[in-house]
Amino acid sequence: MSASTDAPRRLTVADIARRYADGQRLATITAYDYPTAQIVDAAGIPLILVGDSLGQVALGYESTVRVTMAEMLHHTKAVVRGTQRALIVGDMPFLSYATVDEAVENAGRFLQEAGAQAVKVEGGVRSARIIDALVKAGIPVMGHIGWTPQAQHGMGGKVKVQGKDRGAARAVLADALAVQEAGAFAIVLELIPAQLAEAITARLRIPTIGIGAGPGCSGQIQVITDVLGLGDFVPRHASPYADLRGIIAEATTRYAADVEAGSFPGEAQTVRMDDAILDEVLGRGDHDRAGSGSIPVGGIPLDRDL
Ligand code: KIV
Repeated sequence: MSASTDAPRRLTVADIARRYADGQRLATITAYDYPTAQIVDAAGIPLILVGDSLGQVALGYESTVRVTMAEMLHHTKAVVRGTQRALIVGDMPFLSYATVDEAVENAGRFLQEAGAQAVKVEGGVRSARIIDALVKAGIPVMGHIGWTPQAQHGMGGKVKVQGKDRGAARAVLADALAVQEAGAFAIVLELIPAQLAEAITARLRIPTIGIGAGPGCSGQIQVITDVLGLGDFVPRHASPYADLRGIIAEATTRYAADVEAGSFPGEAQTVRMDDAILDEVLGRGDHDRAGSGSIPVGGIPLDRDL
């Protein structure tokens, strides 16, 4: 008996490398839950990041620094269950990779417990040692340089484009090369000038995935709530492709109005039973059904002597 060839196959980092080598741009998006992951996977997105942006856009924290390993694993499991094809990258949360030992242990949990195929780590030169150890342990790593939100307190607090002046541009380029040399299979470039991103992309042999880094990257990543118009503000680098916030508001307003008016549920959403069976269960005769008797409870008419 031969195995069925119909089952969709999960993409690997080798597939991503092949697409990159073929010059295909890599559409990447974040997801945090089962139904959204199902839709995104069916749409053919090859790379899904369970980003720690989860904290802000789905859990209501003021920054990603508050996100825990437990929360990341919980949501990564849901995304893995919802997908069959996309390569799932779990985002290592703040302080989960401060030492090599912690990094290997926590990254291993993303693969073993949650079912992800890779992890993402923020930082260039400063994280190269960690990336190298993870890759040597057999864990595919996506790097992340430029604006790195977990380091926001050390980067001045305010979201800011990185690499605009000479020194900063050199530092971003050095970060990119360090991440590549450490063995990452791809690298996110967040909030850097388009020309710098294009130059880095031309120098690297791994795909660059841009967010706020212009069109010259090997692929793009967006936070799904920005793409769907679900968030409460739109970052400059994003372009909503839908207005889910408006759609949800309109749908829930209509739903509430129907419940309040008594028009939901209607016949189509209602299940009925044989009235005779209910009469029997309630011990109800014709006379009760006509509305003249007492209200029976639990099959026992209230006016019956016990
Ligand atoms: O957490 C996240 O969503 C990210 C992307 C913005 C790259 O890190």
